[in-house]
Amino acid sequence: MGSSIDGRLHPSRWTPPATGIADGLVHRYYEETAARLGGEGWIVGRTTMAEIAKGHPRLPSAIPASLRRTHLGDRKGRDLAVAIDPHGKVHYGRDDAGGDHVVAVLGEGVSDAYLAELREDGVSYLFAGPEGRDLSAAMDTLGAAFGVRTLLLEGGGIINGAFLKAGLIDEVSLLVSPALDGLAGVPTIFEYHGEPGERPAAGKALRHLQTETLEGGTVWLRYRVEDAEDA
Ligand SMILES: NC(=O)c1ccc[n+]([C@@H]2O[C@H](COP(=O)([O-])OP(=O)(O)OC[C@H]3O[C@@H](n4cnc5c(N)ncnc54)[C@H](OP(=O)(O)O)[C@@H]3O)[C@@H](O)[C@H]2O)c1
Repeated sequence: MGSSIDGRLHPSRWTPPATGIADGLVHRYYEETAARLGGEGWIVGRTTMAEIAKGHPRLPSAIPASLRRTHLGDRKGRDLAVAIDPHGKVHYGRDDAGGDHVVAVLGEGVSDAYLAELREDGVSYLFAGPEGRDLSAAMDTLGAAFGVRTLLLEGGGIINGAFLKAGLIDEVSLLVSPALDGLAGVPTIFEYHGEPGERPAAGKALRHLQTETLEGGTVWLRYRVEDAEDA
């Protein structure tokens, strides 16, 4: 993830780089550090994928039977672009996002027409329980179906919060830009929607792995997520 020094995640709201520092470093560093982490793909929430995917809703030409099980499109050796989309709101029109093979993680309530659309697009899909929120089961299915072990969870804050609460994050990699947002209520990089007083990170502790200061003053932080001693 990338954030301002106050942890907020909308780069368009941040203060600009200081005089003499290049613009757009946040996006460049995001890609470069992701490549260095060496995952076999990335995972985003429905809102973030909707900003990337450019397809439109349409009626599929046919609706085959037996759509309601894990469907593997032709990955062609590509990394995976995984969207956690419980209600099947994202439309792709192709089988990739930024060159990586799309895998939609869905709730069982999505329509046959939507599943047929995904198949026509060449998109893979799997189910995360009746509501599409069983992230643990979805990660097991993803690992078994595609043989992947390392995926980069790339936001936004809501899906990060849901993975945190589910105990599914084993490392945090954060690019802190020399920038400020400052407005109360603007989302941070973890936004679990829970009950007042709930602690989505309870039982966990962060162990420092690496700090690197990049050109222009961005700081790349990496921590391993461990079980806390008193957990
Ligand atoms: N700074 C960065 O590094 C960075 C990285 C990525 C994204 N972003 C920005 O973050 C913004 C979007 O973030 P966001 O937090 O609003 O959305 P998000 O995390 O991308 O997506 C949230 C959606 O995921 C779905 N979802 C699936 N499983 C869920 C679960 N178990 N619990 C909760 N939601 C679940 C829900 O979709 P339904 O509403 O359909 O149920 C929910 O509304 C974008 O503007 C994007 O540009 C920033």
